Amino acid sequence: MSRLSPTGRKALLTLHLVTSLGWLGTDLVLLTLGVAGLRGADPEVVYPTAGLLVTWLFAPLSVAAWLVGVASALLTPWGLLRWRWVLVKFGLTTVMLGLVLLLLTPRIRHLGELGAAADAHLRVDLVVAPSVSTTLLLIATVLSTYKPWGRLRRAAVPATRRAVPAGRGA
Ligand code: HEM
Repeated sequence: MSRLSPTGRKALLTLHLVTSLGWLGTDLVLLTLGVAGLRGADPEVVYPTAGLLVTWLFAPLSVAAWLVGVASALLTPWGLLRWRWVLVKFGLTTVMLGLVLLLLTPRIRHLGELGAAADAHLRVDLVVAPSVSTTLLLIATVLSTYKPWGRLRRAAVPATRRAVPAGRGA
């Protein structure tokens, strides 16, 4: 049973969409900056901008999207460990959050500080990392809308009481 009123659930879903797809959008902007840097755009503009973006938008949005995603699972009938699509999304997003906070954010901030002095390896990082993370976030989006693979531990729920969460199959 959902622990939220229909209005509360819509508000939470709205917040979930804004944070998670905002995260995806910011990732695409980082990728654009990375490609612009490799194509000869001014590194004293492109890399400090990427540093600011990662610090003030990308990293905070990753934490917000993870927290609101977990809340969206725990406070609705979907649950965190009931449906495979939710569990896979949770796994993908958790791995991504770790990589963003521990690896990507410090490296892009460093790139921003170096600007024109950044070596080719760091510059390529700003294309490779956002390409990988954008792909993972697109996979998360597709999983969310198609909701494949059914539920885990089907036998644990009696057929007569198996409630299908709102939105399933819609
Ligand atoms: C901790 C990670 C995440 C968890 C546990 C999670 C869980 C959920 C749950 C349970 C719902 C259904 C909410 C409801 O019906 O009220 C949902 C919806 C959705 N999620 Fe996530 N999510 C996570 C991260 C993401 C990410 C990273 C994206 C995309 C970048 C995303 C995109 C969506 C979309 C588009 C929907 C709407 C699907 C629909 O209404 O048909 N989620 N998510």
